[in-house]
Amino acid sequence: MKPLHASLLATAVALALGTAAPALLAADAQPWMDKAKTSAQRTELLLKAMTLDEKLLLLFGYSSGDQLAQVDASIIPGVNAKEVAAKVIPGSAGYIPGIPRLSIPAQFQADASIGVRNPYLERTSLPSSLATAASWDPKVPEVGGQMIGNEARLSGFNVMLAGGVNLAREAQNGRNFEYTGEDPLLAAEMGAALIRGVQSNHIVSTIKHYLINAQETGRTLVSAQISEPALRQSDALAFELAIEKSSPGSVMCSYNRINDVYACQNDKWQNGVLKGDWGYQGYVMSDWGAVHSTVQDANGGLDQQSGFPFDKQPYFARPLRDAVEDGSVTQARIDDMAHRILWALFDKGVMDHPLQPGVIDYAAHAQVTQAAAEQSLVLLKNEAGVLPLGSPKRIAIIGSHADKAVLSGGGSAVVTPIGGNAVPGLGRGGWLTQVWQPSSPMKALQKQLPQTQFTFDAGTDADAAGKAAAAADVAIVFVHQWTAESLDAPSLSLDGNQDAVVAAAARANPNTLVVVESGGAVLMPWASDVKAILAAFYPGAAGGEAIARLLTGAVNPSGRLPITFPASADQLVRPKIGGQSKGPLFTVHYTEGAAVGYKWFDLKGHKPLYAFGHGLSYTSFELGGLKAQAAGDKVTASFSIRNTGARDGASVGQVYVRAPQSAKWEAPRRLAGFQKLALKPGESGSATVGIDPRLLATFDEAKGDWVIAPGSYEVQLGASSDDIRATARLSLAGRRFTSAQVRR
Ligand code: BGC
Repeated sequence: MKPLHASLLATAVALALGTAAPALLAADAQPWMDKAKTSAQRTELLLKAMTLDEKLLLLFGYSSGDQLAQVDASIIPGVNAKEVAAKVIPGSAGYIPGIPRLSIPAQFQADASIGVRNPYLERTSLPSSLATAASWDPKVPEVGGQMIGNEARLSGFNVMLAGGVNLAREAQNGRNFEYTGEDPLLAAEMGAALIRGVQSNHIVSTIKHYLINAQETGRTLVSAQISEPALRQSDALAFELAIEKSSPGSVMCSYNRINDVYACQNDKWQNGVLKGDWGYQGYVMSDWGAVHSTVQDANGGLDQQSGFPFDKQPYFARPLRDAVEDGSVTQARIDDMAHRILWALFDKGVMDHPLQPGVIDYAAHAQVTQAAAEQSLVLLKNEAGVLPLGSPKRIAIIGSHADKAVLSGGGSAVVTPIGGNAVPGLGRGGWLTQVWQPSSPMKALQKQLPQTQFTFDAGTDADAAGKAAAAADVAIVFVHQWTAESLDAPSLSLDGNQDAVVAAAARANPNTLVVVESGGAVLMPWASDVKAILAAFYPGAAGGEAIARLLTGAVNPSGRLPITFPASADQLVRPKIGGQSKGPLFTVHYTEGAAVGYKWFDLKGHKPLYAFGHGLSYTSFELGGLKAQAAGDKVTASFSIRNTGARDGASVGQVYVRAPQSAKWEAPRRLAGFQKLALKPGESGSATVGIDPRLLATFDEAKGDWVIAPGSYEVQLGASSDDIRATARLSLAGRRFTSAQVRR
């Protein structure tokens, strides 16, 4: 798509907002606009003033673009779809009309977790969500969320489709880069922090994709088959904890089926678990094209159909009105649906803070994304202290367009870079075009090391790469794996001849380092042949600068892996993703249950290439002083970390708990808490982490509650999951509790 002329777009945005943000009427005429009342009270008052058609209007969303202009003009009573089409911000994800007479603003929806995604708008990209999860510091995604939410609001959006927290259950999942890792606690903490940041701009954020949307291959065909306890203890737990920690206005239900029932019509997981057991007050919006019926979806807990005409039918438009008339969907359910949406608009500040497009401070935002990358990238290997780079005479940079750019993940989470795509024309075209952020690691290194001579080799030919490496003192090979929404990685091997290029460089130059830009874990058959490896994931709009500063030591690496890097594909639960992208419905049996990621590796005794939680620093740390305590229902662990090296650095204390056999956990150990501490040389710091009882329990499907088995537990303090520095014993009395009791 060609960028729209900027002023044209600005006019489109202003027009759309002009109709959406009417002057607020006096609070006595519209008592629901009285800010002294609670969100629930205001919602009740507003609902009473609404007609059925006005309520229905809130339940049906439109997509942008040409498709919409082709739909039947009267799909929804009282609304002309063609007129609506004119109000959608071009290139945006979606739109729900406002109701000016009631001061209800239109909802303008923008993707996604990494920044404002729009082919016509150049915006700031954060590092991938998996990268910021690798910071193990919720402040990083929180500040990032504040930044991208600010860009969303100033671009005319009040709903952000952010907050991906699906577990990296399949290492090849093409969307792992949009998510926050393989562990429910880490995923929840990091996902929730992003959502809090986004919502601090008085906009709604989603949390997505609910639930167990673990692969992209056949994502609308697959049924995720898994037992309730296993799901409650893994993927669902990430959502449960994240929702408690961030109160997202909306939950986006996913494309797949869960135990044979489509997620968006899944009574069990939407009505029973999310809205029932977890007491969720916001609304469920569908993923784009994930709705399959009117009555089953409405009664199964879906509150808002998104992005028509992505779905086959306008199920929540005229057919929903018909369903109310014939009684198959009750008036009370319609009220509940509208209530949930309005509650979120009140509670997140959308009602009280009309949109005003404004000027974005891109310079400040470039610093935010650079700082995020600097706190997130993971130094996997550093043999003989080859890093930080001293001042070598000649550096050969090889591969992955490192002279120009760093890579982004593809699909609805890709952000159009400021300055445009630095390497156009790659990928699959259209919305699956590869986007390269114009931030060159090589140029940034040149700035950092002005005395060094740099050469660049494209890395397309192994012999040429070997020659380039041989002619330098240090060779830095950039490798990449592009993954995208709707495209799982065919395998974890780097594509093309990248492995051969690394091997050739390593043979030619003993000081060969590798920087990996990827959506998740990749195989590294050359790992033992190179001196250092930096996992850069997709490092965002200032990724090149961040990589350079980490390599030179201007910044001390402090990221830790949020996923396991396997030594070989056969260590994975499923070395190949199941099913197919087209054709009949199919099922994937998640027989590993809740034993996702490192838990599976522990269970099977597999030794990964790089373990969950692993990450090196240019300084050293001593971890100790571990104490674990149970006082009544409260369990805590405290520990200390000392920087024993010569430079500033940060380390993450990782608390794992190992259960007695009788507890019947899915795997021997779980991450139960963590804290990152930044320390000066010689400095010590301490931390106390509370351990959520659900992380010590199993779910009892028959009784619908959690159970902690009595017994003696081992608490471990790790620098990573495979580097345990101290252990302590914890004696727990057995008890049962519900999710509601934990929330209280
Ligand atoms: C994706 C969602 C996204 C939506 C709107 C879907 O294809 O799965 O994550 O928010 O499109 O663009």
